[in-house]
Amino acid sequence: MLAAQCVFTMLSAEHSVIRRNLSALMDLVRTDGWHRPGAMLDRLGDLVKFLHTYERDFHAGKERECLLPALQGRGPEADRLVLEVELADAHHGVLLSRALALLQALSRGDSARAPELADLLGHYEAGVLRLQSIEEGELFRIGQELLCGEDWSQIASAMSRGAGGSRRPPVSGWQTAGGSTSRAASSHPLH
Ligand SMILES: [Fe+2]
Repeated sequence: MLAAQCVFTMLSAEHSVIRRNLSALMDLVRTDGWHRPGAMLDRLGDLVKFLHTYERDFHAGKERECLLPALQGRGPEADRLVLEVELADAHHGVLLSRALALLQALSRGDSARAPELADLLGHYEAGVLRLQSIEEGELFRIGQELLCGEDWSQIASAMSRGAGGSRRPPVSGWQTAGGSTSRAASSHPLH
């Protein structure tokens, strides 16, 4: 099933982008002084915004609107996995929205919120890694068992048309703001 492999390769590549940016984000949170207003906090905010937009507008929609509906109603295991992925996605969106609010507090100098944000980002990281493991493992396995080649062709076609979100991945706030080359190079999300 070539189409199934194409879908899996595309989603896995997007998962890698998320993991690289998440890893950079968590490295920052483990650095002394990350929570004080300044370049590190700005960089952290850039990464959180990128992850929020990348998930919401580019990646998660492909799964939510193209892959999951094809699996829904195909049996109890498929339904359980679909529900688990949908709930985790919604939860991650809430966590990132909360993280953005906490970042605003930190940027105003409210350093007392730093432990809350670090804890929240730790939960987000663990949740994302677990979700990706489910999607690349159980979800894809059961998809191969339950969906035929025509199903996968339709999913691949819908994803390539940009169904469920944008056809292009988001760019960072630095790029859209026209930041300097050195600044963009040092704070650009990691594609
Ligand atoms: Fe995913």
